[in-house]
Amino acid sequence: MEKLIVGNWKMSLGYQASLALAQELKELSVKADRQVAVCPSPLAMAQVAEILATSAVATGAQNVAAALPGALTGETSLESLVEIGGHYVILGHSERRQYLAETDSIVHDKAQAVLERSQITPIICVGEDLATRQTGQAEAWVEKQLRAALANLAQLAGQRLVIAYEPIWAIGTGETSTPEQAEAMHQFIRQIVSDLGIAHCRILYGGSAKPENAASLLAMPNIDGLLVGGASLTAASFAQIVNA
Ligand code: PGA
Repeated sequence: MEKLIVGNWKMSLGYQASLALAQELKELSVKADRQVAVCPSPLAMAQVAEILATSAVATGAQNVAAALPGALTGETSLESLVEIGGHYVILGHSERRQYLAETDSIVHDKAQAVLERSQITPIICVGEDLATRQTGQAEAWVEKQLRAALANLAQLAGQRLVIAYEPIWAIGTGETSTPEQAEAMHQFIRQIVSDLGIAHCRILYGGSAKPENAASLLAMPNIDGLLVGGASLTAASFAQIVNA
């Protein structure tokens, strides 16, 4: 199966910097067994999608509203994401859960909206914090997040679902889960997803993925790709990860 590498630019790049990086990525040559996407900030999304329209790199969003277009100040509708040619949307990133009060039930409603009302692929993020891992609760925590996010979505999910396992203690810290640690959690996630009746699901690893560790992570049988934050912000390091 092709490995999927997704760059999450978060709020790190301004408008002009986003367009400049998209221009560089336009020429990115991508190995035959790889798929690539970047998720710019909302303000830059339409322009980045236009720049990358004929390239090997798809465009995604970092978030979307579940509600239908209407009175919801400050949010981005799914319909507008479809209109600009978005292919992916990250849902339930730990930063949104932690700082923007996004709950399991909100993540579920967003996933349902995306699957019901568009052809966009949702990338649902799960992952435990350090205390949860240290007390041996990591699997139980991730299972709770998965069961809540995916409740009753098996039929809708079809072939489109992506889960990103992002241990919070590894995000932006430089500390990466070892490939073996990540592989064990990915196996566990695959089991839960299959218990929920979802036959096909890609599972990405995220958390300080970088050129130095990308190949060993991608070599694991249950790691179907990477969600990359900091190391996706320059074309050179992102290109190395994409083709690792
Ligand atoms: P990081 O972020 O690669 O900078 O750790 C990953 C993410 O939060 O998606």
